[in-house]
Amino acid sequence: MSTLRDLDGSDLVLGVATASFQIEGATSADGRGPSIWDTLCRRPGAIKDGSDGSTACGSYDRVDEDLDLIRDLGVEAYRFSIAWPRVQPDGRGEANAAGLDHYERVVDGCLARGIVPLPTLYHWDLPQPLEDDGGWPARATAQRLADYAGIVARRLGDRVTWWSTLNEPWCSAFLGYAAGIHAPGRQEPAAAFAAAHHLLLGHALAAEAVRAAAPAASVGIVLNLAPVWPEEDAAREAADYVDAIQNRLWLDALVDGSYPAILPALHDPALVRDGDLAAIAGSAAWLGINYYTPFRIGPAGEGAGSERVQSPRAYPGAPSLRFLPREPVTEMGWEVDASGLEEVLLTTSRRAPGLPLMVTENGSAYADATRSADGSAEDDDRIAYLRDHLAATRRARDAGADVRAYIAWTLLDNFEWAEGYTKKFGLVEVEAGTLRRIPKASYRYYAGLAGRAKR
Ligand code: FCB
Repeated sequence: MSTLRDLDGSDLVLGVATASFQIEGATSADGRGPSIWDTLCRRPGAIKDGSDGSTACGSYDRVDEDLDLIRDLGVEAYRFSIAWPRVQPDGRGEANAAGLDHYERVVDGCLARGIVPLPTLYHWDLPQPLEDDGGWPARATAQRLADYAGIVARRLGDRVTWWSTLNEPWCSAFLGYAAGIHAPGRQEPAAAFAAAHHLLLGHALAAEAVRAAAPAASVGIVLNLAPVWPEEDAAREAADYVDAIQNRLWLDALVDGSYPAILPALHDPALVRDGDLAAIAGSAAWLGINYYTPFRIGPAGEGAGSERVQSPRAYPGAPSLRFLPREPVTEMGWEVDASGLEEVLLTTSRRAPGLPLMVTENGSAYADATRSADGSAEDDDRIAYLRDHLAATRRARDAGADVRAYIAWTLLDNFEWAEGYTKKFGLVEVEAGTLRRIPKASYRYYAGLAGRAKR
């Protein structure tokens, strides 16, 4: 075990996050197999700028450079994800040694620099062969995740304490299989509910597999929870339904071993078998919360918000509704309101008593048009977002929520899923073509905070 400061809650640990497909590139290097995102990127119209992840930030070949940036930022934790198709190119069977070697370099590189590694096992890059066999709507995929988790934990479990299984399973299930905006780009509401259940089952089995390989491991899950606010009485029912799919589905299962009554698809015994919910209940040792924006819900009518997170199609079965973000919004069209983060941390800590929380992602996309004399971005808007959300996190902590860490999204401008390279969330710009890393003003601002936090 490392001698790094543990995330024991004595102080808020600051960190920064990335995800494999968004930064690595090198999508066919060293035996990596194809993922559902490689496939979706080839579908005309699926990615806004027609781009793909084949280059991204080139981080696969820049491990030391990126880790140096994190060390110089002065934060104590790095949340990254492990690409399943690098470890098991077919999604099953023997491990690909080169894939494991890569993540060992990342973990050892963190430890050598005094950074706590926080790996996420699944940040959306499902091996394509598993999708060909049915993907998350197929029950067997849950067991495949557990097999893969066991392989990784056997290799890295002596050096990693804090693991998370899934990133934002709501996105995998409902953007992937209902809205069809994310990979695999299917629009089959029934499949989305089956995917949701199998993701949770997979999480529970994977957590067990990690603990079997690394008994000291603390295994959590990362959810994108959001406060859901009806804008008028006529939208209450719709808001309640959105809340059920966005928040309660996951928390009820993980905390109580139940699904909301309002979601009949999750009460089908052919899908949810005896013992499943008992395995899911209590399976997370901590909860990661990714927060970007609150959801304001109005009844159906003219106008809509951003398609990305705010597509009504991602809430199959909901009464007619639309998302009504208020100004100011980021480049994603997401309303900026830090009070939503405070609310979500406080309500989740009451809903899941005893479970430590981490803000595992929070950040903002801005255009970065203002430049300083040396050409680097003067991103005051991103700095304000960071400042206000960090303050909200501290308020929630002061009010009693057991929040251990605040992890900013994200280190580098990167491949932002269906938005391609058009949306920039990074503290560091990546120059097109050269892939040169150019820190923004927000990087220097965060470094100042991180320095203070440590003193
Ligand atoms: C979250 C994802 C992350 C990034 C941010 C902006 O939903 O987990 O990969 O795309 O949104």
